[in-house]
Amino acid sequence: MRIIIANWKMNLLSKDIDGFCAACVAEYKAKPGVEAGIAPPSIYLKDVKTKLGNCGVKVFAQNAYFEAKGAFTGEIAMAQLKDIGCDGVLLGHSERRHIFGETNAALVKKVKAAREHDLLPVLCIGETLAERDGGKMFEVLREQLAVLKETGPGALVVAYEPVWAIGTGRVATVEQVREVHAFVAEELKRLLGEAGAEVPIQYGGSVTPDNFSELIQVPHVSGGLVGGAALDPAKFLKLVQQAQ
Ligand code: 13P
Repeated sequence: MRIIIANWKMNLLSKDIDGFCAACVAEYKAKPGVEAGIAPPSIYLKDVKTKLGNCGVKVFAQNAYFEAKGAFTGEIAMAQLKDIGCDGVLLGHSERRHIFGETNAALVKKVKAAREHDLLPVLCIGETLAERDGGKMFEVLREQLAVLKETGPGALVVAYEPVWAIGTGRVATVEQVREVHAFVAEELKRLLGEAGAEVPIQYGGSVTPDNFSELIQVPHVSGGLVGGAALDPAKFLKLVQQAQ
């Protein structure tokens, strides 16, 4: 399966969302084997879900908490995401890891909680430039993927987003993407057995329609997690078409 997700991060307002969803409803044509999704700020999840109707574009949260319910001010439960019709949840995005201190220990609980509520977890991994330059890239990625040792197999997408390529306009080269995606595919098999071979591995980091047609051809690249370019519905729909 291939999967393209627009991660809006903390961008866009109601007025932008109307047009974006209308464009999806008018132009998105589902094709077998390729999923498309939008991850809006949580305050707009229900609105986006309603506006997309049954056009086939899925809705993802950008984060959620692992506890079932209770006194966790400011957090959102997986059950609440499911309640409003959410399809999945991004987990461990580098911005959450680096700005908000998300840990692998929390991610183990979040992946499990997402699965318990039938939400597709998208586990994000990626090395910083210092880690890559310091020869620690594989070690870092292996450690981030070790979350899956504790969760075991189940519904899953992995998104490889090198931190230095996020929002910088500096996309990873085809060679870099080939090397890391082959490594991630091997690790997934080692950790999850045969089920690991079924896990889609998205690439993310300055993806645009200009570079994506080449990246999507790279072995073990089965989609994209897209920030900046996916704030524009025409570009998002173009990326989906390229994956199809
Ligand atoms: P950009 O596409 O803006 O580089 O963001 C990538 C990303 O972090 C998606 O989750």
